[in-house]
Amino acid sequence: MMVLKGKKILIGISGSIAAYKIPIIVRLLMKEGAEVQIIMTPAARDFVTPLTLSTLSKRPVLTEPFNPVDGTWNSHVDMGNWADLMLIAPASATTLGKMAAGIADNLLVTTYLAAVCPVFFAPAMDLDMFQHPSTQRNISTLLSYGNQMIAPREGELASGLCGAGRLEEPEVILEVIRDFFKGNQSWAGKKVLITAGPTVEPIDPVRYISNYSSGKMGYALAEEALKRGAEVTLVSGPVQINAPSGVNLIKVQTARQMLQACDTVFDDSNLLIMTAAVADFRVSDVSGSKIKKQAGIDTPALKLVENPDIVKTLSSHRKTGQYIMGFALETDNEVANAQSKLSSKGMDAIALNSLNDPGAGYGTDTNKVTLIHKSGVSYTSALESKSVIAGRVLDFIEETIVNP
Ligand code: PMT
Repeated sequence: MMVLKGKKILIGISGSIAAYKIPIIVRLLMKEGAEVQIIMTPAARDFVTPLTLSTLSKRPVLTEPFNPVDGTWNSHVDMGNWADLMLIAPASATTLGKMAAGIADNLLVTTYLAAVCPVFFAPAMDLDMFQHPSTQRNISTLLSYGNQMIAPREGELASGLCGAGRLEEPEVILEVIRDFFKGNQSWAGKKVLITAGPTVEPIDPVRYISNYSSGKMGYALAEEALKRGAEVTLVSGPVQINAPSGVNLIKVQTARQMLQACDTVFDDSNLLIMTAAVADFRVSDVSGSKIKKQAGIDTPALKLVENPDIVKTLSSHRKTGQYIMGFALETDNEVANAQSKLSSKGMDAIALNSLNDPGAGYGTDTNKVTLIHKSGVSYTSALESKSVIAGRVLDFIEETIVNP
């Protein structure tokens, strides 16, 4: 299957001896029918010639924002919009630093900042440079932006030293790109129910009790499950983001509506992922009209009653083989609290996110999770974009379904 036919690949080459491998990657991509546009940093031109690359890619190779002879502008914005995927290889320590910090002083980094497509970067450098905290911090930052790393290999380096820092082999890089476009259809035929966002519990017609959940984590999970070929129902509280196209979206407001919506779909689902931040309490007597402030009358007290526990209710009538994963947002005794929720709510696994980890939890574009299966298997992620975390959660489910 020619998955790369017609795919538009932008390759950014930075200054590293490993640039000699890029003509091979270009040749492999062209053979598969991809369109390839190459951008080089000025330093990269010392390692591989633009003539070799333009001959192989059948397009002019770009380094400058405009052509000094005729003034033609090489628009980074147009290229960033054109590409289906951007590959930065080799990514030198300097280029990683500029990408992480947004230092747009060359065409490669300006185009990277303008790119709206997925970005893969393949570092190549000496092992001590790769291990330096500065490089590692830049890599973590790029991963938190949702960029994906094609990690360098261990092996003999140009310096004569041996260790991690070798650019991954062209055939492997091609495979990563092919896999990306192929999509991993491992969830084809699975029906997945995901809840997301907050619930809102009315006080009167204009006021409510709720929480800060933005829906980003749950929507990222829905998108990842769709990518893996699942049929996805997303039961969502009110949020400001758009649902991925292809999901069966059910919008709800309150915890009781969320339970009702889940109840209609759960029986027929293979998996339930409860990402929603469900309000534990609701107001017992919702006022039919706006509660007025009145001189001489005491401030009204809100009487709260407990909401149904959605995941506990559903797990109590689960069928054999149904997998249930919950989430826990904790502030203290995190692991112990998550483990106790895992068992008391009858779940198979729980994803713990802690408000003590900067950048994790609600509202942010990033998250850091500890995934705990009832068997004791666990995994702790780095701080990464919510879409990368969604992939980690689904990978963990895949592993623990196979090895319960
Ligand atoms: O939406 P974002 O801004 O991206 O933020 C994502 C998130 C931080 C909200 C999400 O990652 C998360 O942690 N969700 C769970 C929030 C939480 O604190 O849940 P909990 O500890 O109250 O509940 C534990 C589990 O029981 C959860 O799976 C919850 O969905 C479920 N629950 C809770 C109460 C209730 N009445 N019914 C439930 O089913």
